[in-house]
Order: sequence, then C-alpha cells, then structure tokens
Amino acid sequence: MNYNIALLRGDGIGPEIVDSAVRVLEKVGEKFGHTFRFTPYLIGGCAIDACGEPLPKETVEGCLAADSVLLGAVGGPKWDTLPGNMRPEKALLGIRAAMGLFTNLRPAKLYPALASECPLRADIVANGFDLMIVRELTGGIYFGERGMREGKYGEEAYDTECYSRMEIERIGRVAFETARKRGKKLCSIDKANVLDTSRLWRKIMHELTEEYPDVTLSDMLVDNAAMQLVRNPAQFDVIVTSNMFGDILSDEASQITGSIGMLPSASLGETTRGLYEPIHGSAPDIAGKHLANPIATILSAAMMLLHSFGLAAEHDAIVNAVDAVLNAGLRTADLAHGAPALSTEEMTDAILERI
Ligand code: IPM
Ligand code: MG
Repeated sequence: MNYNIALLRGDGIGPEIVDSAVRVLEKVGEKFGHTFRFTPYLIGGCAIDACGEPLPKETVEGCLAADSVLLGAVGGPKWDTLPGNMRPEKALLGIRAAMGLFTNLRPAKLYPALASECPLRADIVANGFDLMIVRELTGGIYFGERGMREGKYGEEAYDTECYSRMEIERIGRVAFETARKRGKKLCSIDKANVLDTSRLWRKIMHELTEEYPDVTLSDMLVDNAAMQLVRNPAQFDVIVTSNMFGDILSDEASQITGSIGMLPSASLGETTRGLYEPIHGSAPDIAGKHLANPIATILSAAMMLLHSFGLAAEHDAIVNAVDAVLNAGLRTADLAHGAPALSTEEMTDAILERI
C-alpha cells in the first residue's frame, strides 16, 4: 500500500526524533512492501520565524490532505515571551481542533528492562503496570471562552470549562471501546464533588454502561487519582478524563515509567487520519546534540501504523524491536545515568537492525 504522511518536525529536538521515526517507517515499508511518502510542513517556532504565525494555512491544508500526521515537538525559549495566541503551543491546540482530533490515547507501561528507572518503591511496581489514558482533546478549559477584564479587585483573567453531552458521549464511547479491547476496566476521572462539568461527565459515563455491560466502570476524583497513580498504578487499566486532567495525569504517568522519552501518543477523530507525537516537549537544552531519546516518536509512528492504517504486524515489528534494544541494555543518555550512552542515531540504528 501507499501512504502519504505529513511531517511536522517542529522545534528543538523535534527534527532529530522525527527523522529517526522516518527511518524506522522506511525500514518497515521495505520489509512489508509499503511505500510511505513524507511531506514536511512547518509548525510552532520555526513557522513563526518563517511565516510569522505558529500554524500556517499550508500546514493545516497539508495535514488534512495527508493519510496521517507525524509530529515532533514545538516551542523553545526564543518564542516564550510572545503573546498567548502567537505562542508555538497554540499551533498544537490549533491543529488538533482543525483535524477534529477529540481523542488522545496516552499509553504508559513499565518496561521490565526499565523497572529500575521507576521512581516508585520496588514493592509497589513488583508486578509492573500497563495503563492507557484516554484524554478528551478538543474541549474543556483549553478551548473555552477566556479573556481579561476589570473585576472587583481590578485586572483579572478568566478561562472557562465547558463540556457538552455530545463531547462527553463521544470520548466516553472511545474509552469504553478501548477498555473492551484491553482489561475491560474503565476508570473515569473527574472533580464531580465541585464542578458541574464533572457531574455531567460522570452521569453520561454511567449512562454508557448500558451499551458496554462487559466493561466495569468506576469513578475517581482527580486529586485522589493523582495520589493513586503513585500509590498503586497497577490498579488502572483504561482511564478516561477531560482535557486538562488528562494533560496533567499523563505527565505523572509518564514519570513513573522511568523516562518521559519513552511515551508515544495518538490523537484521533472520526476518520482514520490521526496525529501522532511523543508526549514530551522540544527539550531545547539538548537540541542538535544527538542526545534525544527517539523511542517515544518511533513508538508514535508504530501507533500510526496500527490506528490509522490497520497494520498490526508492522506495528508489532517496531514494538518488538524497541523491546529488544531495551532488553539488550542499550540506552540513550536520559536512561544511562552518566554511563556511556547511544546517540539518537545509534539508538535508531539499533532499532532498525532488529526490525
Ligand atoms: C501536551 C502538551 C500540550 C497540551 C500543550 C503544549 C498545549 O502539554 O500535549 O500534553 O496541553 O496538550
Ligand atoms: Mg502536557
């Protein structure tokens, strides 16, 4: 088959890690007889520099015309003082909205080979953990009405959280379907003791249990969930939560896997066209130094093969190659504790050899 992939390399380490994932996809193409065609587009700081805006029209059009999109990371100190709507991060929210990507899948699991990297006590993770965060991605407070105004105490700023029944139902269905394909346990995380949006969220999640009687649903308040993730992460199978809570909890979940450099993500909508990106940022401090761990981006490319193209064997070939390099003790600097480590390119070569 032929697939057209839009590449959004972005800023910082973005170009290096996307190039690693491209090499891996090309190898998979050779081995399984697929042709991947890559078309680069600008996003984030590099787009601000070249076109004066973080998300140029050509980028949006290019992504909508592609079969799927692979993204590195955006942002850096150079653009940190720009006003809110001109910041590189705005482009991420913009492309998610433009592509209708309301689902964000963020898997977090403990690799046996990396168990010693987990900051939790050994007895807590004796049996590992393997969870999937289903984060709502185009609604809630990140997309609500916001602004500045004069208030009772003078200048004030506000952001609003709003969720419609439609938005909650559609992310709920994705979460139940995801749980159905895994351990059939779904935990919905909210703040229903305070927020009306959470009360509607919780009510609708429970309504959906009628459609998914084979999935066990539980609820948890977000503050408790933040604690439970470090107290006993193995209790979770699939988590479904709002945009902001998912943003925060997924960073927490990544840290207990040992390195944020390992975690991929998939952003999906109503079509098979998705956007795949590592959950880490652009790491400007190590950009261009060949130190970045490419695995999160390589695993994001693997998620693309599975979720956008339905190529399960090809997906597994990448995942197994990553397992094999880790089991062989190969590490990039983020996981090497000062010992000699592989460069970004060497780690990519090691994965290529095992595909
Ligand atoms: C993420 C990031 C983004 C988000 C920011 C940069 C807009 O934190 O992908 O988790 O909040 O979604
Ligand atoms: Mg985040």
